[in-house]
Amino acid sequence: MLSEAKNKQITQVGPGTPMGQYLRRYWHPIAAASEFDNKEVKAVRLLGENLVLYKDMSGTYGLLDRHCPHRRADLSYGFVEKVGLRCNYHGWLINEKGRCIEQPYDDTANPNGTMKEKVRQPAYPVREVAGLLFAYMGPQPAPELPIWEPFTWKHGFIEIVTSDIPCNWFQCQENSCDPVHFEWMHDNWSIRQRGDTTPYSPAHLKVAFDEFEHGFTYRRVREGQNDDSPMWTTGRVALWPNGFYLGSHFEWRVPVDDENTLSITWFFTKLPAESQKNSLPEIHAWHAPIKQADGRWITSHIINQDIVAWVGQGVVSDRTKENLGASDRGIAMIRNRFFEEMDAVAAGKDPKGTIRDPEAAKCVPLPIAEPQLYKTIVPRDEWVSNGYFKRRLKEFPWHYGQPPEIIDAFRKAVGLDADGQPYKG
Ligand code: FES
Ligand SMILES: [Fe+2]
Repeated sequence: MLSEAKNKQITQVGPGTPMGQYLRRYWHPIAAASEFDNKEVKAVRLLGENLVLYKDMSGTYGLLDRHCPHRRADLSYGFVEKVGLRCNYHGWLINEKGRCIEQPYDDTANPNGTMKEKVRQPAYPVREVAGLLFAYMGPQPAPELPIWEPFTWKHGFIEIVTSDIPCNWFQCQENSCDPVHFEWMHDNWSIRQRGDTTPYSPAHLKVAFDEFEHGFTYRRVREGQNDDSPMWTTGRVALWPNGFYLGSHFEWRVPVDDENTLSITWFFTKLPAESQKNSLPEIHAWHAPIKQADGRWITSHIINQDIVAWVGQGVVSDRTKENLGASDRGIAMIRNRFFEEMDAVAAGKDPKGTIRDPEAAKCVPLPIAEPQLYKTIVPRDEWVSNGYFKRRLKEFPWHYGQPPEIIDAFRKAVGLDADGQPYKG
């Protein structure tokens, strides 16, 4: 339970708020790079700020305040040039550093004028890694962008999936340190949705939470498992400040504003040895719906089920009315740590997990349960004998709505069809 004041403090993300200041000290994934294969400019809202994300004709990404510094026109209707984004109203041209580099009529009327040099459009750095675009919206100098070890893996098939979630980001992130919900929300609720009533899935016997440099790990033992299980020896990772890492994939809950969240997920699926023609992974991106035609939430897929929990807690969960139990130790740890981190940032310190050494950022290791599932390349017959991979040929279990051309691209990359037979197209 939190007081109303503390609940506000931990959920509000706008400029100048304590949590907003803290979150601005990290790089956040904000889009898939491939979204810019077919467009140049995208209106985005992040941390309560209206912005425009663009890729200019030289391939440089920029993230600028949405309103033109001239007379405030909407730059998401602008168009890109070799360098920078041009406002569609009077043609001012702004580069990725927020500098005005052309003021068409003024440049003619006052060729020696210096007004241009004084214009500063709010601008944030953007970097592309593993098919994702990351932005940093905090004070300079920016910390290093961590290249998590899975981003360096090769010979895989990568999918980036986005969804728009109409609730506050923090209740989504609390879900990243909540092992017991897997048993009920994903396992047992799925059993009931299939029309079965029993048996329920193995119960959790014990859970543990530990802090490490880049977040928390949670570990669990369920009925039928013992202390040698990788879910107990390694577990899963709640990443600072708004990520979740589960071996094959990352999930981030990026605050759009206090009442909306961009869910952005990155999946790596190892391909069989026979598929290793190219060293670089194929990257596909898609947007996943979360609502059915009748207005109810989609409940069939793992992350859709999570989303039902998040939005069900209310637009901003009222934590004055909750009752935390033994399963919620990780939730309490995250909250306590965030309050300490907000104080540390206010005192001028770097928050947890900040990397300032470029060498250290190049490949940042994470706790990985069952690393062989992702890193050990095996022949196709061995690959398909693993139930997890075999299921992947049939369906994408995390998000509803995978486009048919992407499941087809996956089967083609693996070389097998939905039934595990040679792919014929
Ligand atoms: S408002 Fe953008 S150039 Fe005039
Ligand atoms: Fe979940």
